[in-house]
Amino acid sequence: MTKRRPLFAANWKCYKTPEEARAYVADFVVPADALIPRADIALLPPFISIEAVRSALEKTTIAFGAQDCYYEPRGAFTGEVSAVMLGEIGCKYCVVGHSERRRLFGETDESVREKVTALLAASVTPIVCVGETLEEYKAGQTLLRVMQQISDGLGHLDDDERANLVIAYEPVWAIGTGLADDPESANKTIGSIRQTLGGLDEARMLYGGSMKADNAAAFCAQPNIDGGLVGSASLEPAAFLKLIANGAQVRNER
Ligand code: PGA
Repeated sequence: MTKRRPLFAANWKCYKTPEEARAYVADFVVPADALIPRADIALLPPFISIEAVRSALEKTTIAFGAQDCYYEPRGAFTGEVSAVMLGEIGCKYCVVGHSERRRLFGETDESVREKVTALLAASVTPIVCVGETLEEYKAGQTLLRVMQQISDGLGHLDDDERANLVIAYEPVWAIGTGLADDPESANKTIGSIRQTLGGLDEARMLYGGSMKADNAAAFCAQPNIDGGLVGSASLEPAAFLKLIANGAQVRNER
């Protein structure tokens, strides 16, 4: 059995006001806390709702975090929220390099590198997203693209720093489409990622892209997959709880 603990992280994207977030946590917290012996669980709300989630999760072991950050600690950067600020309010995780940020907001492997460094310095665990587009997938360039994202984004870290990361492999064509990758193929890609740079054998690696309650077990049965980064299926407490229970059970039996 691997010593990497399973992790299921809810990427809420631009959903849930503070009031909606509070209502979610009220339904989620007791059954989720009961699943903690089997898996780590994290909620990643929009910035505006982090404080509501933080206070509602007090006295539980469910983690919370953010979906992006800025790497400079402070300064004249209108609209940005820094890694240092996230660390101060107790964020355990922060997503970096999500494909929506890359595609819609100009995120690059260079900014991923800066953000990862800033987050590690602020004691916030980066959840680094990588994945190929549909065009790259069709052209058989999945590994090429993903390896480039890994080496450009994480090549500057030492092995110990890399061992503490979370990496989410999310094929862009599988995100929000209902068309999940084939679990064996995702396992293979993630296996290749583990072999690229030192330290990554110990890093937790998640699958993301249309993970649901009914396919979570198939992904988590794969030896390289440690859980999921979940969008749509995390927006309702009952659906996300079911996904975690199904995935964690198989993962812990491995
Ligand atoms: P999805 O999103 O689960 O809705 O496909 C995953 C993600 O974007 O992280």
